[in-house]
Amino acid sequence: MSREDQPIAVVTGASSGIGAATATALARDGWRVVMVARRAERLSELVENIAAAGGEAMAEALDAADGPAVMTMAERVRAEWGEPSLVVNSAGAGEWRFLEETSVGEIVEMMGAPYLAAANISRAFIEGMMSQEKGLIIHVGSPASVMPWPGATAYTASRWALRGLHEALCQDLRGTGVRSSLVYFGEVSSEYFEANPGSHEHIPTLAAPIPLSTPERCAKVLLTVVRRPRRVVFYPFALRFMAWLAAITPGPTRWLIARTGRRH
Ligand SMILES: NC(=O)c1ccc[n+]([C@@H]2O[C@H](COP(=O)([O-])OP(=O)(O)OC[C@H]3O[C@@H](n4cnc5c(N)ncnc54)[C@H](OP(=O)(O)O)[C@@H]3O)[C@@H](O)[C@H]2O)c1
Repeated sequence: MSREDQPIAVVTGASSGIGAATATALARDGWRVVMVARRAERLSELVENIAAAGGEAMAEALDAADGPAVMTMAERVRAEWGEPSLVVNSAGAGEWRFLEETSVGEIVEMMGAPYLAAANISRAFIEGMMSQEKGLIIHVGSPASVMPWPGATAYTASRWALRGLHEALCQDLRGTGVRSSLVYFGEVSSEYFEANPGSHEHIPTLAAPIPLSTPERCAKVLLTVVRRPRRVVFYPFALRFMAWLAAITPGPTRWLIARTGRRH
């Protein structure tokens, strides 16, 4: 395949965890990858690793919650490489705390990623995908937007906003050839809990049977979604089972999660 024929993907949160593993897996699969995150050095290292393995990636160090910066980056990508046909929204952060333990500044910050980051990046590339009549926007979601647990209030609200963005896009994009997909993972062995101290302690014990996934395993799941897009995906199976349980017995599931979660 010539370089010009290689499809282009944009991956946010690409300096770490699920985003970094997905960018690497996509490059291995023949995609040219635009890697977005704030830490420039981490991105440069990953871009070099991808190049050493024979792939091609571009580092775009920016805060994806910054709309004008995202729009400028999108123009640069279009001018240098062309129109992407895949967006993976994996940028996300936020410590799990009760609302009264969260500052008003942190409430805004947590809305920045994943929600604003995903909305900005999707906005920047959606028209290009629509004009090609093909494309896929994948959002990396959290089970918090299906079955919330106590003590992760602003985090949860941002993941519900992400879910809202996905649901609205599914309706908007009917008949355009572009699709939106929301992928939920259980606990992942990324740097998330180191970067957001105090969060892990809030995982309800009810979630203990859900096996831990590696970022590389999540990347494999996301690549299956790229090949066969689906509206909503839960991984692993135990999480899908819990989501099903929450859908058919919402009251008892909510009660159990609250009982097995952390109290004030
Ligand atoms: N880890 C889990 O157990 C788990 C489970 C289910 C869902 N998730 C969700 O999956 C998403 C990714 O998590 P992860 O496990 O891969 O965590 P991670 O290893 O901490 O990676 C988060 C990534 O997001 C980037 N990021 C954060 N804010 C950003 C911003 N404003 N602009 C651009 N990039 C930003 C970070 O890079 P910079 O700091 O360089 O910007 C980093 O690359 C999160 O939304 C998380 O809630 C995680």
